[in-house]
Amino acid sequence: MATTLELTTNSPEETQALGHRLGAEAMPGDLILLSGELGSGKTTLAQGVARGLDIKGYAHSPTFVLVNEYKGRLTLYHIDLYRLDDPGEMAELGIEEMLTDGVCIVEWAERALALLPSEFLLIELFALAPTHRRLRLEARGEHYQRLIARLRTFAKSR
Ligand SMILES: Nc1ncnc2c1ncn2[C@@H]1O[C@H](COP(=O)(O)OP(=O)(O)OP(=O)(O)O)[C@@H](O)[C@H]1O
Ligand SMILES: [Mg+2]
Repeated sequence: MATTLELTTNSPEETQALGHRLGAEAMPGDLILLSGELGSGKTTLAQGVARGLDIKGYAHSPTFVLVNEYKGRLTLYHIDLYRLDDPGEMAELGIEEMLTDGVCIVEWAERALALLPSEFLLIELFALAPTHRRLRLEARGEHYQRLIARLRTFAKSR
């Protein structure tokens, strides 16, 4: 089964649409890791995931809090590791607990990769032009391979 999927989006709305589909497909325990430069679109994608989980009033403000929690069809834990000073803080967050029945989406995941579970969907974002982004999805584990397979129809429809 294919483990990667690459697509290009040409606007923030298109990136959100992929996130929306991902949120709609998400199951309890899903872990989505986001990696990409400042302004590459990680939060924009996460906004779409929130909508796909029927979360109302999602507002991600840059704060010093590492985790924001939102209630929807499933609870979404939005973790932003940009300001992670000490990887030990990651261990204290208790991500395993969040994953018992929620969905976790992690910005700047590469900052604590060794402390995260070994199976996840990794999405790398690359800014190609002011409004163009390359998104590379990679599955770690069979569960996420199946998720990518379900997202393939979205990629084809574009
Ligand atoms: N195709 C696109 N997909 C996503 N965002 C886009 C796209 N085209 C333009 N943008 C713009 O790029 C910016 C992306 O910002 P966003 O906050 O999502 O990035 P980020 O990766 O979360 O950055 P940070 O590392 O600072 O948290 C937004 O202003 C958005 O409108
Ligand atoms: Mg962000």
